Amino acid sequence: MTALSIHPSGEAAAQAAASLLAELVGAAQADRGAANVSLAGGNTPRRAYELLGPLVADASRVHWWFGDERCVPADDPESNFRMVAESLLLGMTEPGRVHRIAGELPPEEAAELYADELRRTVPPFGDGIPQLDVALLGLGEDGHMASLFPGDPSLDVRDRLAVPVVAVKPPPNRITLTLPVFETARAAVILATGTGKKDAVTRVLAGPDRATPASLLGGDSLTLILDEAAAP
Ligand code: 6PG
Repeated sequence: MTALSIHPSGEAAAQAAASLLAELVGAAQADRGAANVSLAGGNTPRRAYELLGPLVADASRVHWWFGDERCVPADDPESNFRMVAESLLLGMTEPGRVHRIAGELPPEEAAELYADELRRTVPPFGDGIPQLDVALLGLGEDGHMASLFPGDPSLDVRDRLAVPVVAVKPPPNRITLTLPVFETARAAVILATGTGKKDAVTRVLAGPDRATPASLLGGDSLTLILDEAAAP
């Protein structure tokens, strides 16, 4: 059953997301020595990252991954890496391992390199997909998550860990982790705030539908952290 966590404001939702991530990181470190966390891009998580930094007890034993990236250099204002560097990593003395998607490279090459890095670093579930401890995701008004957009062929990719996509949301050229990676994560957390996300949240909770990629993640491992404006 998808867990719903509703908060009076965007700030309170950001605080709840930061606390939950810090808790999940600590649990993963206690059980497995290190934590593998994939981070969301976009605007919504920035505040949660600012709050998360000081809450992570031992950041040196965290591998920070990206659920998706825009095909831009790391210092570009559109870069998800830059957003994370300016919010989460800024306050950290020992940020652990930051696994950036090389948005400046040809997309196919960057996707393959990232998949290799995931396979080399993240212990697999059984003998298959690298199993992240936590995947933090945002939610688009159209129901997309990471850069997995409604009706896009990338939604059906099950034999690759990362793929290039051409998105309807600017900037168009992106690299995204694929659905099997997010499905395999021990915990998936969607952080969504604002009235603009209300309809998408309702569709996520309505059950799996390819027209709402984030709804394909439902189930026990999923937590939706919302402010009241985004709540159904
Ligand atoms: C990206 C994101 C994307 C984002 C949603 C929500 O790189 O754009 O990974 O999936 O999470 O589009 O974006 P906002 O938080 O800006 O509304």
